[in-house]
Parts: sequence; structure tokens; C-alpha cells
Amino acid sequence: MHFPERKILLKDGRTCILRPNGPDLAKEMITYLEKTSAETPFLLRNPDEVNFTLESEKEILGRLQEDPYAIMMAATVDGKVAGNGSITGIGDKRKIRHRCSLAIALYEEYWGLGIGTAMINYMTELAKEIGWHQVDLEVVAENEQAQALYKKCGFIESGRRHNALLFDDGTYHDEILMYKSLI
Ligand SMILES: CC(C)(COP(=O)(O)OP(=O)(O)OC[C@H]1O[C@@H](n2cnc3c(N)ncnc32)[C@H](O)[C@@H]1OP(=O)(O)O)[C@@H](O)C(=O)NCCC(=O)NCCS
Repeated sequence: MHFPERKILLKDGRTCILRPNGPDLAKEMITYLEKTSAETPFLLRNPDEVNFTLESEKEILGRLQEDPYAIMMAATVDGKVAGNGSITGIGDKRKIRHRCSLAIALYEEYWGLGIGTAMINYMTELAKEIGWHQVDLEVVAENEQAQALYKKCGFIESGRRHNALLFDDGTYHDEILMYKSLI
């Protein structure tokens, strides 16, 4: 969807812009997916699983930008991409089409500056405007930073999925399920 840019003041005094992520950022997004998946083990993709071409990434970002029920939000600082967040529907069957799913990741150099809080708050505000009833997410059980962020933004823990993830080092990891009601 298209939505207004929002400027926020970071804890280090810099300004961050939250803006719709579109095809113009396709190249930056491929680099972002490769780097962020290498910086943290808590994202779903391993770095070698980022296989987008510039054309396919442009097509995906263009389609999501025109989808009135989807949000792709880029955060930029000094003109550079600092992170991305998204809201997408979980399925189109009538019994589940009131629910959407949230994802977010920032480059490590931008952690702890307040960008995550501002992005989650803006994305959930827009999700309510769109008409979503509930935002769901899954977070790796060991990812304390993300869980602190989600709780701060009003998300509630609703369950745990045993051994949901198998890392390349052979270790299994549980996922914590969280939700925020918008009704
Ligand atoms: C999780 C993530 C999005 C948080 O964004 P952020 O901009 O760093 O978060 P904020 O600066 O807004 O901090 C939000 C809260 O998180 C908590 N927090 C911040 N840094 C923390 C740390 N190192 N350890 C534990 N909690 C921490 C604090 O409660 C903070 O609230 P406060 O500012 O009132 O103290 C970011 O760290 C990130 O991209 N991590 C890697 C990818 C990832 O894990 N994504 C989530 C997958 S489910």
C-alpha cells in the first residue's frame, strides 16, 4: 500500500524516515536481505537462500506496493536503508482472512536506536486502518531483544512451537507465538 512518510528522531539525534518500500529500493533490498540474514541467526532465511534477481525483487516490491492490504515499510537514515518491516495477510480463506503477519529486521548498526519501536507502532496503526483484526508473529525463543520490542509495543505471548527451526549447526529452536489485537 501507499502511505505517508513519517520522520522520527532517533536516540542518537539522527532523523529516520519511515516510507513505503517500492521497486526503486530493489537493489538495496537484495543487499539488505543478504547482510541481515548473515548478521543474525534469528531470521528465517540463511544468507545462501537469498536468491532474488533484480527483476524479481522489483516485481515483488511493485506488487506489494499496489496491494491495499500489504505494508512494506523501509526505514532510511541519511538516505541509506536501515531496515525493513512488513505486514501481509496469512491466507485468503474466510475463517483466517482477518489476521495478518508482521516481520521486521534492521541492519545491526541501527539496533537500539528506537527504529524498531517506531516501525512496529506505525505498521500496527496502518494495519488497523486497513481493517486487519489481529497481527500475528513468530519469534525465535532465544531472541530476547525482539521479544522485548514486541511486548513494549503491546504484543502478547500466546504459545510456543516446539523445535520449529533447525539451524545449520544441527541445533533445534522453539518459536514463541505472539499477537496484538486491533479490535
Ligand atoms: C529486533 C529489532 C527489530 C529491534 O529493533 P530496535 O530498533 O533495535 O529496537 P528499539 O531500539 O526500538 O528497542 C525496543 C526495545 O527493545 C529492548 N531492547 C533493545 N535492545 C535490547 C537488547 N540488546 N537486549 C534486550 N532488549 C533490548 C528494549 O526494551 C527496547 O525498549 P526501550 O528503548 O524502551 O529500552 C532489531 O534488533 C533487529 O532487527 N534484530 C535482528 C532481526 C530480528 O531479530 N528481527 C525480529 C525477528 S522476529
